[in-house]
Amino acid sequence: METLFIGKNMLFLTEVESTNTYAMNLLRNVNAIEGTVVYTDNQTNGKGQRGALWNSDISSNITASVILKPGFLSAGKSFFLSKISALALYDLLTDILGNSHYDIKIKWPNDILVNSKKIAGVLIENTYHNTVLQYSVIGVGLNVNQIEFNELNNYAVSLKLLTGIVYERKQLLGKLCTCLEKWYLTLKANKTDFINETYLSRLLGLNQHLSFKMPDDRVFEAKIIDVNAEGKLCLEMNDLSIRKFEIKEVQLISGF
Ligand code: BTN
Repeated sequence: METLFIGKNMLFLTEVESTNTYAMNLLRNVNAIEGTVVYTDNQTNGKGQRGALWNSDISSNITASVILKPGFLSAGKSFFLSKISALALYDLLTDILGNSHYDIKIKWPNDILVNSKKIAGVLIENTYHNTVLQYSVIGVGLNVNQIEFNELNNYAVSLKLLTGIVYERKQLLGKLCTCLEKWYLTLKANKTDFINETYLSRLLGLNQHLSFKMPDDRVFEAKIIDVNAEGKLCLEMNDLSIRKFEIKEVQLISGF
């Protein structure tokens, strides 16, 4: 492993409900060291964004959680963990796929799409101590060798579906650790402008007019102009006013 700390301690579980929940419990019970990675071949009750389930075929994909202790980060800046996780996955996929034949994009907040289909998602769970972050569990689901997504076939894709190659998952996980550590150290060095610029440059739909859906199913058109420090999506509405939305408040539904 070519890292300083992420992935030095790897904990493999044949089966677990959720690697995120397991990692959170590890922190509570034995105070696992920073950089510990919990991964499994069979996640039976995987958690996704917005309370959804994350389903993954057995022994096909990466389902892993990385334990971080970002005590240097104030609570108000916790969204930087989302940004660096997405950037790490973006770098990993660029490294594997190359840039030319594949359109790799970050979909706010931190989904990764290739050729308009979702290949990876991230679920981050944090604990806080006073005004700073204490623990952070970065849960990553990356579709690697799965080739059937059933009712999600139009929306999901895997590396195998894209290239026809069967990938060695442990090796990919090692590379993901390297990419994540690079971005985590960038954050620790406080290079937040660089992180923001890079995240925006890879964001799906920046400066484009797209359709969005509210929780009550109302649909509207707007232009993405920024993702602010709190992780809110900043939209320019048709009347040119700027509105800021949290993850629960809006969903991008077209334009990709
Ligand atoms: C999303 O909805 O896009 C987020 C998906 C996150 C899934 C991963 S799989 C490993 C980790 N453990 C979980 O229960 N969820 C995350």
